[in-house]
Amino acid sequence: MKRTADFLKMKKENEKIAMITAYDFPSAKQAEAGGTDVILVGDSLGMTVLGLDSTVHVTIDDMVHHTKAVKRGARDTFIITDMPFMTYHVNKEQTFHAARTLIQGGADAIKLEGAGEVVDRVKELTEAGVPVCAHLGLTPQSVGVLGGYKVQGKTAESAQRLLADARAMEQAGAFMLVLECVPHQVARTVSAALQIPVIGIGAGAEADGQVLVYHDIMKYGVDRTAKFVKSYAEFDRTGVQAVSSYVEDVKAGEFPEEAHAFTMSEDELDRLYG
Ligand code: KIV
Ligand code: NA
Repeated sequence: MKRTADFLKMKKENEKIAMITAYDFPSAKQAEAGGTDVILVGDSLGMTVLGLDSTVHVTIDDMVHHTKAVKRGARDTFIITDMPFMTYHVNKEQTFHAARTLIQGGADAIKLEGAGEVVDRVKELTEAGVPVCAHLGLTPQSVGVLGGYKVQGKTAESAQRLLADARAMEQAGAFMLVLECVPHQVARTVSAALQIPVIGIGAGAEADGQVLVYHDIMKYGVDRTAKFVKSYAEFDRTGVQAVSSYVEDVKAGEFPEEAHAFTMSEDELDRLYG
């Protein structure tokens, strides 16, 4: 299994880091078998597997439940789990309690969105021995404040701000930074300015690595995908096809076939019905 030091080394050696989200046992098994460097148990699970309309409804219990399943499916892959909405803003005690719950559930590191006071939380957690991944740019837990899922850092001022926040996160001890939905030039600048790897999503090709959501990659349960997504499979189409073929077979009496059935011996049949 790769560890935090390996990600630093990969950046130094210009080896791109591939991250994918996973939320349960089978998706984790696929992620590991496919050779991903890191798995993110993202709070995007609120939408992808729970059908919620944003990540703000996701709880610490949800995150632990899914992290445990992912761990069972990918024992040899580094796992980062998202700290859910408002579990790292009240005070140090609550933050530590939430972090411990996730780490003991199987996470190797945790991810926190935003800067400001969150920088202090990152410092405290790192000092307490918890590896922290920062998350800047579009931070979905703040969708209400941001006023929608919009590209961030498009003006000189906001890009400057992003770079300063990224530096502060590195200074605070973050071992990695996820940068979401920013112009590719901003991701390039931030990646070049930091020692720690910058993992982009909707941030162009110049980041040190990429992350995508499993369900977007698979086209699984998603009605529409963002501009930055590339899909590599057609789970929805093949899934619905499979279900309708099964239903047709059942209705037509074509499933099950003899090969799917169990048979009692003639002797036993005789003993039963005489
Ligand atoms: O929850 C998530 O899936 C994420 C990634 C999109 C970075 O935070
Ligand atoms: Na997230």
